[in-house]
Amino acid sequence: MKIPHDKPVLVTSALPYVNGECHIGHLRTYVPADICVRMLRKMGYRVIFISGSDTHGTPIVLSAEAEGTTPEAVVERYHEHFRRVFDALNVDFDYYGRTDSPANHARTEEIVKDLMARGYVYRKKTKQAYCNTCGRFLPDRYVEGICPYCGTLARGDECDQGCGRHLEPGEIEEPRCKICGSAAVYKDQEHFFFKLSAFSHFLLSYLHGLEGTANARNYALEWVKRELRDWCITRNLEWGVKFPGRDDLVVYVWVDAPIGYISFTEELLRERGEDDTEWARYWKNNEATIIHFIGTDIIYHHCIFWPAMLKGAGYSLPRAVIASGMVKINGKTFSKSRGNVVWASEFLERFHPDMLRYYLVAQSSHTKELDFSWDSFFMRVNNELVAILGNLAYRVLTFTYKHFGMVPAGEIEDEVTSAIESATAEVLSAMENYEFKKMVDATMGLANFGNSYFQREEPWHLIKGDEDARRRCGTIIKNVLQILKSICILLEPVMPEKMGEMWFQLGMETDLHATKIEDLRAPIRTGQKLNKPAVLFQRVG
Ligand code: MSP
Ligand code: ZN
Repeated sequence: MKIPHDKPVLVTSALPYVNGECHIGHLRTYVPADICVRMLRKMGYRVIFISGSDTHGTPIVLSAEAEGTTPEAVVERYHEHFRRVFDALNVDFDYYGRTDSPANHARTEEIVKDLMARGYVYRKKTKQAYCNTCGRFLPDRYVEGICPYCGTLARGDECDQGCGRHLEPGEIEEPRCKICGSAAVYKDQEHFFFKLSAFSHFLLSYLHGLEGTANARNYALEWVKRELRDWCITRNLEWGVKFPGRDDLVVYVWVDAPIGYISFTEELLRERGEDDTEWARYWKNNEATIIHFIGTDIIYHHCIFWPAMLKGAGYSLPRAVIASGMVKINGKTFSKSRGNVVWASEFLERFHPDMLRYYLVAQSSHTKELDFSWDSFFMRVNNELVAILGNLAYRVLTFTYKHFGMVPAGEIEDEVTSAIESATAEVLSAMENYEFKKMVDATMGLANFGNSYFQREEPWHLIKGDEDARRRCGTIIKNVLQILKSICILLEPVMPEKMGEMWFQLGMETDLHATKIEDLRAPIRTGQKLNKPAVLFQRVG
């Protein structure tokens, strides 16, 4: 697929619930999105990259209750935490907002009112789980029970350990209160519903044309083909965006959370001093390309609820949804409550962030599960970053620094040009298909080629020979330096700091982060002084 060059691109990554610390499962949404944005910029696209904290919903209210504090306090703490983690990992958002902002409240209200005005919202009596002991209704994650579809133990709004389905209030069987553990009962209550069923036809055709990864499209199509039931969009909660005209109800978190994508765009453009109508180019007039990065667990929300809401309220539709496979640990599902989790901070205390960025894309293809183990991490780093890439850079740069001190003269040879060109072509086509693993594999292939070229030509013999031999030696070196320079450009999106260091060692004076794919073609400048080489990657484990 090809994204049009003449439109601005808006890339979003799913908004983390800020009810706990960031783990490496989350990062499989944010790191590839950041890599994609950096690569798109190299390809000449104008991109804005946004995300933010999902501050509403029962995950946060429950955490606050468990800690004996307020949702505000929980949000405050983890919002800052996520920002710090993204900073440390160089996940470089143009804007990182939060869904409890005034702009998001306003935009949510506006969209809900639009949907009501167009007849897509109605009220209906519905069964809601109620706990007699606690004396309260139990929305979403306040209740646990059995999934009516697959029989697995599930959360109130989602069969998170089983079939992955979104569950409507009243659907879960044998409901239990999460707070006190007692059996809950169903009580009739009036709530507001969104006429999702009216969008079946639209969704079928929209999803057929949806770009991104095939898993997002296919899962969503399967669900739409089976049956779409109307969607309950209000909850009995204090914390959230009030449903228009109703002080006792808030909208379901999956209404105001994706609307964050819109309000954060508004906030960013306002911050940049753009015209007040500028956001509409992105969200009303189809003048931009919208791309969402998510994990497979939230395909339903992004490929069914969200486009139906946008369509219903007359907003622009996303062009692509890229859904990563889930991260597991030693073959087991992630679970904070069971202690089966690896925190981002655990990593960052011990390892360079680029190692984690590399691992997250190199370990498995994007739509497949990624089964994390420390051994698999050590192997990727030691066998690839250290043994292939780091080794090539260090050998070549120390040799050059010692014998030449600068980039020697010489022509770039055909076999080197073609190795660089084919790696570049592979990287670009991998990028078009959101195959991040292929992107890094193709570049590592080029590093492998560099190692065998250097080995085969034996410059360490040539340097001791006559003038012809030494000239030949210079040519070989110039060619491997050209390979290193290309690798810097191709891998900058994946490892921005480490490639920046290599770029500096090569003596390049331009800003690597601003280089474009075209810059690959330019031969590295003869006479350019190298900086003192240093080891790029240390062995781990
Ligand atoms: N708040 C919602 C998203 C709202 S978007 C309008 C949410 N938050 S989350 O914190 O649970 O997840 C944030 C991102 O991390 C999502 O893209 C989710 O798919 C991803 N992941 C969270 N745990 C994950 C794994 N164990 N493995 C892979 N991705 C996972 O969902
Ligand atoms: Zn289920």
